[in-house]
Amino acid sequence: MPTHVNPYGRLATEIYDFDKPVGALPDVAFYTERLKAIDGPILEPACGTGRILIPLLEAGHEMWGFEPSPDMLAVCRRHCAERGFDPPLASFRFQDFAYDQTFAAVIVPVSTFSFVADFGEAMETLRRFHAHLEPGGLLMLDLQPPRRMWARHGAIRTWAMPNGDLLRMDSRHVATDEVEQTVVNHMTYERWRDGRLIESELEIMTGRVWGRHEFELALRAAGFSEVQVHGDYRRRPARHGDSGLTFEAIA
Ligand SMILES: C[S@@+](CC[C@H](N)C(=O)[O-])C[C@H]1O[C@@H](n2cnc3c(N)ncnc32)[C@H](O)[C@@H]1O
Repeated sequence: MPTHVNPYGRLATEIYDFDKPVGALPDVAFYTERLKAIDGPILEPACGTGRILIPLLEAGHEMWGFEPSPDMLAVCRRHCAERGFDPPLASFRFQDFAYDQTFAAVIVPVSTFSFVADFGEAMETLRRFHAHLEPGGLLMLDLQPPRRMWARHGAIRTWAMPNGDLLRMDSRHVATDEVEQTVVNHMTYERWRDGRLIESELEIMTGRVWGRHEFELALRAAGFSEVQVHGDYRRRPARHGDSGLTFEAIA
């Protein structure tokens, strides 16, 4: 499978930032609490708009981020500057990031690691996370359980913007490969003004479905140990019915 980067273009970025502003979602408090023990630079691959990177800067951490979408990266830089922060932010992908230093922690929230759809690239990325962590460094990474990834759903969501525009997202599941463990969703983002469609964007999103034990084995194969799995952003072992799994592993 060729490398596929889910694009997160201009409209997708505008909606993401409006729907999930800086500090939104329950993972922020969970990660902030766990990372209190971390003393040293923290890397957030695929940092997006800075939704979680900025609260961690505000908590006093030295945050580094990378992000392949120019639109997401521009919003992240703007949000940081508005708050007086200037963290090192780079334009990389999971598949090619490289730093000449190591980190005390690497974090990948909101199931973003599933965007590395190809198994070989995913394993290579986990090995690269390991190589970029100092000995004893922490990897903290969320995945959705297979049930939620496989679910063939379609949804339409709309947002009324302050200037009167209506933004609309139509998400459709279009393909599943049960052997490669991948899913493809088409996301159509639209801007409607006075009842007329004035802008639209199609994003083809591929995702990888991981089993809980499979991912633990993958982490160990990439060199990690002491793997723990928590559920639904609570400090208790993950259990059946959880909608989010947070893996922690030590380099
Ligand atoms: C759901 S957003 C998460 C953003 C941020 N981490 C957060 O928690 O709000 C997913 C991000 O992954 C990025 N992304 C998609 N494919 C990627 C890839 N191959 N390498 C790195 N980032 C990627 C997108 O550009 C987008 O910003």
